[in-house]
Amino acid sequence: MKLRRAVGLLRHLTMSLLILLVFTGCENRQDTNSQATESQSNKVDTTGHQDWETIVEVLLHPRCLNCHQLELPLINQGSPHVPRVERGPDNMGIGTMRCSNCHSNQNNPVTGAPGAPGWAMAPISLNWSDMSSAQICKLLTTPQDNGGRSPEQLMQFMSENPLALWGWNPGGKREPVNIPHEKLVEALKGWIAAGTPCPPQAPSD
Ligand code: HEC
Ligand code: HEC
Repeated sequence: MKLRRAVGLLRHLTMSLLILLVFTGCENRQDTNSQATESQSNKVDTTGHQDWETIVEVLLHPRCLNCHQLELPLINQGSPHVPRVERGPDNMGIGTMRCSNCHSNQNNPVTGAPGAPGWAMAPISLNWSDMSSAQICKLLTTPQDNGGRSPEQLMQFMSENPLALWGWNPGGKREPVNIPHEKLVEALKGWIAAGTPCPPQAPSD
């Protein structure tokens, strides 16, 4: 009788200990997990690579890409511009289809034509519509290719030029650039401070 009781007690104790172990084990694991996520989200990326990802996401947004094309500008999410208009020798259209015939310094709610000072297609050298992130990065960091701009001038262009700023105030039902403008400026600062690093180029680039 005594022995049976003792065994019962022992069994009970072992079970409790096991349960305790399992529980504390879980808790500990959870702890390390949450610590890991915390340190990940608090980690500041000073290499500039994450900043470049933010910048290129803006550059590839339809609000920017629609003018940075080869010969024909696009509208909305990348549909053909109707009526058909062409770049022309000065990037401002041809004949009666001059950009300024329809596009003024501001969005026109009556005609639906968007507008900003200097409305024109981006120069052909700045057509990054079919480039990879690495190629765009190389283009923008090579002054001979990018219109002679230094990183600081590039920064100034993207934070102040009316054509770029239009992307956050596109008028009509057009969606503005999805990344807040302040976040782009922050990313540009970080990227430049890190020495404008670019993603590695693929061998075919
Ligand atoms: C209406 C057409 C148009 C739109 C929309 C447009 N751009 Fe441009 N972009 C241009 C033109 C034109 C130039 C050349 C201006 C110059 O060199 O002074 C240019 C030049 C640039 C340059 C300069 C590149 C360099 O190295 O010289 C950058 C960067 C740029 N655009 C980014 C953007 C971004 C970002 C957006 C969207 C937020 C945008 N653009 C939207 C027409 C456009
Ligand atoms: C005959 C008038 C007309 C001419 C000429 C014209 N456009 Fe447009 N454009 C419009 C109208 C109207 C819209 C708005 C269409 C819509 O949103 O459905 C538009 C939209 C655009 C957009 C779309 C912006 C976006 O992100 O949705 C771009 C880019 C553009 N035009 C560039 C140009 C360029 C560059 C030229 C000169 C080479 C030009 N357009 C000439 C009337 C014109």
